[in-house]
Order: sequence, then structure tokens, then C-alpha cells
Amino acid sequence: MKENIIIAGSSGAIGNEFTKFYADNPVVEKIIALSRKSINTEHNKIQSIEIDYNNEETFKNLDEISNLEVISKIIIATGVLHSETFKPEKSIDSIDGEGMKRVFQANVFGPTLLVKKLLPLIKKSKGVKIVFLTARVGSISDNELGGWHSYRSSKSALNMMIKNLSIELKRLNKEHVVIGIHPGTVKSHLSEPFLKHVKHDVFSPEESVGFMIKVINEITHKDSGKCFDFSGKVIEP
Ligand SMILES: NC(=O)c1ccc[n+]([C@@H]2O[C@H](COP(=O)([O-])OP(=O)(O)OC[C@H]3O[C@@H](n4cnc5c(N)ncnc54)[C@H](OP(=O)(O)O)[C@@H]3O)[C@@H](O)[C@H]2O)c1
Repeated sequence: MKENIIIAGSSGAIGNEFTKFYADNPVVEKIIALSRKSINTEHNKIQSIEIDYNNEETFKNLDEISNLEVISKIIIATGVLHSETFKPEKSIDSIDGEGMKRVFQANVFGPTLLVKKLLPLIKKSKGVKIVFLTARVGSISDNELGGWHSYRSSKSALNMMIKNLSIELKRLNKEHVVIGIHPGTVKSHLSEPFLKHVKHDVFSPEESVGFMIKVINEITHKDSGKCFDFSGKVIEP
């Protein structure tokens, strides 16, 4: 069966790679590519729609796709770690309220409201795979270093939302799957200022997406609510 896929953050390094990968896949009929500024594409499978989590009015742009029959996957590859006005905090006294709000807006509130907006489409479909890009640093049991207060805690909150959504969506259709996935450390705008300190492997977006596609293909409804790393290993909450 031909697939329709929604990808949020298609202007980002990882989201763009997912968009290219699925655009080249003959099983995929249509990709709805969501980003703050519409992406340039001549690919006739890709429909670009502008969404900015900081402006809820833009969610109305999704009304354009309300006539889609069914969807098979939603990949949410949006997220923020730093901007021109805020950076990850090393200590509590460097937390800035506005910066913290922006991080939660991009990493938790926006992705959650996006799923709420897509609910009518999810209800029409069976066995939808909803994949949120999360981060290993959101694991509470794995946290030995502290710091990065806003980013870490936003990803922990996202992981709880993944679990909550998995429970609720299972009641709609027991084949729906909701997971989080940690992409590894990947070259991107988000990671760029921190790569010089990294001692483990740094993946290109293409490598990371290649690994994650395998995980996405293999997960079933029994995995719903869990978070995985790029190799398919479960990350404990
Ligand atoms: N790169 C890594 O090493 C790494 C590691 C662990 C987890 N992750 C996670 O992987 C995901 C993708 O990150 P990436 O590395 O591909 O970063 P990226 O290249 O900076 O992409 C981030 C994407 O999020 C979008 N975005 C940010 N704020 C938004 C908002 N308010 N409303 C709508 N869209 C917004 C960006 O849109 P614009 O293009 O308009 O800014 C962009 O499309 C994130 O969830 C990140 O936390 C990445």
C-alpha cells in the first residue's frame, strides 16, 4: 500500500534527511514537509507547509491536508538546544525564563499540539507510527552530569508525553505506535557549537537517518511508549 508521511522539522539536518530518504522511496506517495519557512523542492511528492510552534495560528495551515485519506508515519524532528539569545545552562543561576520557555515550546509544547492537530488524520488511519526525535540526556536514570537544565528537562517531559500518547492512541487503534528515538550525536545546527567536546562518534545526518530507518521499520505496537537509541537499544526513562 502507498504511504503518506508527515515530517516536522524538514528544514533541519535530520528532518531534511528523512524527507530526502522517503522522497526516494517508491512506496511513498506523498510527504507533507513541515517547517517554519517553506522548503524549496521540485520533488512532486513533497508538499511543504509552514508551521511555527511559537505561533499557534500557523497550525491552521494544516487544514490544507485534512482531505488526506490516511497517513502511515509522523516523524517529528523539530527541536532546540540554543539560539542567538539562549544557550544550554551549566548551572541553575544561568537559567533564563524566556529561554527556558522557548526550549519547552520547541521540544514539548509544539510537538504535542502538532499531534493534537493531526488527531483527525490519525483517527482515520490504522497502525500509524509516530516517531519523536528525543535525546539520551532526557533519561533521568542516565543523568550523571547534570546541566543543560532546560534541554534535558524538556526532553524528559517529551518522553513522558510519548508514553501518555502511546496509552491514549492504543485505545483508538491497538496497532498505533508512538516512540522516541535518540539519533546519536549528529552534525547539525543544533549540535555544532558542542561538537569539539565530543569524544564519541559523530554521525552525518545521512548515517544517523540510515540507522533510525532500520529501527522505525522494525518497531511494532509492542514497543509503543518506549524510547530507543539509533541502534535500536531501549533507553531507560
Ligand atoms: N544533532 C544531534 O546531535 C542531536 C542529538 C540528540 C537529539 N537530537 C534531536 O534531533 C532533533 C533534530 O535536530 P537536528 O540536529 O536536526 O537540529 P537542526 O538541524 O537544528 O533542526 C531543528 C529543526 O527544528 C525546527 N524548529 C526549531 N524550533 C522550532 C519552532 N519553534 N517551531 C517549528 N520548528 C522549529 C528547525 O526549524 P528552522 O530550520 O526554522 O530553525 C529545524 O527544522 C531535535 O529534536 C534534537 O533535539 C539531535
